[in-house]
Amino acid sequence: MFLRIPLSVFPACRGALAVAFALALAGCGGPAAPGPADEARAAQLRPRDAALAEKYERSCMVCHTQAAAQAPLTGFAPAWQPRLKQGMDTLVRHAEQGLGGMPARGLCADCTASDLRALIQFMAQ
Ligand code: HEC
Repeated sequence: MFLRIPLSVFPACRGALAVAFALALAGCGGPAAPGPADEARAAQLRPRDAALAEKYERSCMVCHTQAAAQAPLTGFAPAWQPRLKQGMDTLVRHAEQGLGGMPARGLCADCTASDLRALIQFMAQ
């Protein structure tokens, strides 16, 4: 669904971050709004396990490495802290069932519950 939002909206948001950080925070999703450096870091991280990395690359990564997708970025702690407070079982259930813009199983049809748990632990590191 979010993919239909014109991406041209978001560079404007980043520009605002450089010009008026506080204003941009208000306009770009609250205090946990990630910047381009957080996105660049997210894009480089991979699970150590090769099979898990393959699942991550073909499913979770497309959304969880772009601020524009409104998903908590991989490795961006401020976005994960409040979510981790729900408990790992709830996070795994939300990943299995979907939540808001997050599709069921994160589009990973062959991910088991334990794969999802390991992927979440990796992304929330
Ligand atoms: C199509 C985009 C997309 C894909 C693919 C995707 N996610 Fe997400 N994910 C989201 C969005 C958007 C949210 C924020 C949902 C919300 O809070 O409304 C999210 C949130 C989450 C959350 C937090 C749930 C919570 O209870 O706060 C977890 C965990 C998660 N994703 C795991 C995964 C895993 C694991 C994968 C890969 C197997 C994955 N996601 C793939 C878009 C995606």
